[in-house]
Amino acid sequence: MSETVLIAVAWPYANAEIHVGNLTGSYLPADIAARYHRLKGRKVLMVSGSDAHGTPITVRADAENTTPLAVYQRFHEGFLDLFQQLGLTYDVFTSTHTENHFDVAQKIFLALKQNGFMYQQTQEQWYSPAQNRFLPDRYVEGTCYICGYDNARSDQCDKCGNLLEPGKLINPRSKIDNSTPMLKETEHFFLDLGKLEPEIEKFLTERESYWRQNVLRQSLGQIQTDGLRGRPITRDLDWGIPVPIKGQEGKCLYVWFEAVIGYLSAAIEFGKLTNDSDAWRDWWTNQETKSFYFIGKDNIPFHAIIWPAELLGLSTTFDEMMGAAEPKPLVLPYDVPANEFLNLEGQKISGSRNWAVYGRDFLSRYDPDPLRYYLTVTMPESRDADWDWNDFYHRNNDELVATWGNLANRVLSFAYKHWEGIVPDPGEHTQMDLDLINTVEAGFDSVGKEIEAVRLRAALQEAMRIASEVNKYLDQTAPWVTIKTDKPAAARAIYTAMRAIDSLKVLFSPFIPFTSENLHEYLGYPGKLFGKQYLTEENDNLGTHTILRYDSTEATGRWEPSKLQPGHLFQKPLPLFKKLDPSIVEEERNRLG
Ligand code: MF3
Ligand code: ZN
Repeated sequence: MSETVLIAVAWPYANAEIHVGNLTGSYLPADIAARYHRLKGRKVLMVSGSDAHGTPITVRADAENTTPLAVYQRFHEGFLDLFQQLGLTYDVFTSTHTENHFDVAQKIFLALKQNGFMYQQTQEQWYSPAQNRFLPDRYVEGTCYICGYDNARSDQCDKCGNLLEPGKLINPRSKIDNSTPMLKETEHFFLDLGKLEPEIEKFLTERESYWRQNVLRQSLGQIQTDGLRGRPITRDLDWGIPVPIKGQEGKCLYVWFEAVIGYLSAAIEFGKLTNDSDAWRDWWTNQETKSFYFIGKDNIPFHAIIWPAELLGLSTTFDEMMGAAEPKPLVLPYDVPANEFLNLEGQKISGSRNWAVYGRDFLSRYDPDPLRYYLTVTMPESRDADWDWNDFYHRNNDELVATWGNLANRVLSFAYKHWEGIVPDPGEHTQMDLDLINTVEAGFDSVGKEIEAVRLRAALQEAMRIASEVNKYLDQTAPWVTIKTDKPAAARAIYTAMRAIDSLKVLFSPFIPFTSENLHEYLGYPGKLFGKQYLTEENDNLGTHTILRYDSTEATGRWEPSKLQPGHLFQKPLPLFKKLDPSIVEEERNRLG
C-alpha cells in the first residue's frame, strides 16, 4: 500500500439536513478509512466540502423566498456541527463557494478547452413559457425513457442510474409550477466524452479486478452498451461559477462539472492553509498516491466517468498552469467504493414525508459510537440495507454492550480491584494465553486487509469476532474463580485479557473512535490515539467561509498490537457504552412519518 492516500468524500448539497442514509453512504466509511490509514502511518488527506451551487440549492431558495447564498450558509453550518459531533476527521471540509475553488474550476475548464476536449453546440433545453426562463435539469421531472421510472430528473434517473440525454424525458413537467415545459435552443460548451472514451475505458478496465460490481456495471457497462457522447457542462444560470470567457455572461459551469473539481481545489486550499503551496502535489501529481472516492450509488457516473474524463483530458496542462517546472498529469481514482442506499424501516428515506433519521437529531439523544457502529454493521456495501430501530436496539445491547463494552469493563474493573491499578505480572504464559495473543495480533492483518479493500462491514465483524474470542478465553480461564485459590493463574489470565483489550481498542478505533479513546485513557496512556478537529474562518472576495480541519500532530495511535507491560499503571474504568431500554424502539418509530 502506498504511503500517500487521498480520501475524497462526496460533497453534500447544502440544501438539506444530513440523514443516516447519507452518513453510511459516504461520509462515515470515508472517515473509517482515513483513521485507519493514518494509524498505519500513511500520509492521508481527507477532503470535501459543501456543494453550494446547482439547482438543489436554488430550488430550496425559491421555495423559501431567500437567496441561494443564505441557504448554502445555513446548511453548511449544520454540516460542520454534525461532522464534529460524529468525529468525521476531514483535513479540510470547505465549500465550492470560495474564490480558490472558482479559480481552480475555471482553470480546468480552460485547460480542457485548450486541449481540445471541449466544443460548443446549440442544444435544446427545457424552457418555461409560463415563467419566461430556461429550466435547469433538476426543475424538470418526468418518465425515464430507459426504464420507465416516473420520477426521473431530466438529466439522471435515480432508479436505473443512467445519465439521461437532455430533451428525451417522457411527459416532462416543471417542478416549480407543474406546467409543461417546451424545448428551446441555447448554446453550450460540451465535454467531449466521445473523444476520451478509449482512455476512460482503459482506465476502467485496469481497475476491473478490484472495483465493486455495481460501480463497474454502471460505468464500463454504459461504455460497452451505448458508448459515450459529449455532455453539456455549462448552464443558463446565475448562481454558480461563471464561464471564464468573454461573451458568456449569464452562463455558469454545470454543478457536477465543477463540484468534482473540489477534490483537487480542496487539496490546493489545504496547501494555502498550511503555508505550503506545493502540498497538494503530494496527493495529486505523485503517481504513487492511492485515491479513494467515497460516494453513494447515485453519484457513480460522475466519479467513474466524468471526473476521470476531466483528469485524462487535462493531461499535464493543469500542473503547467500551476507553474510546475516539469508538469505532471493528475492522479486518477484508485477506487470508487460507492455504496448502495439505506432504507428506513423498510421504506425509502424521504425528507418530505419525514421518513428519516437525521444525524443531529439522533445525536441529541444517543452517543456517536453506537451510530457509527450500527451504520457500519448495516452498511449497504453490496446491496440496499435497512435501518431498523429494533435491530439498532439489539445491536447496541447484544453486541456493543454485551460483547465488547462489558468485556473491557469487567476485566479492567476486576484488575483494578485486585491489583490496585497496576497491570499484573503474568509469569510464564500457558499455550492458551499464547494462542489468544496470536489470534488478537493476527487481527491487525485481517481487519486491516478488509479496510484496505473497503469491506468495512467484514472488517468490523472480524474485530467483533476477536472480542468474542477474548470472552471465550475468560470463560475458560475464569480468573474470578481462580483469584480465590490461585492468584498467579488469575494474574496470568487478566494480564493476557488486558493486553488483548489494549489491542482491540486499536482494532475498533477507526469505527468507534470515541470509546476507544476513553478506553485508551482508562488503560493509563497519557496521549490520545487521534488528533483534534477544529474550525477556522477564511475571508475572500466571495465572503467568509468556515472550514472544518483536523490536526493530527498530537495523535499517538498506531495500527500495532499492544505491548502492555506488567507494572503499568491504569485507571478505574467507566462503562464504554449505555445499555438502551427496549422502549426506545416504539418511541423512535413514533417519530417517523
Ligand atoms: N452534491 C452531490 C450529492 O449530494 C455530491 C457531489 S460529489 C462531488 O449527491 F464530488 F461531485 F462534489
Ligand atoms: Zn431509468
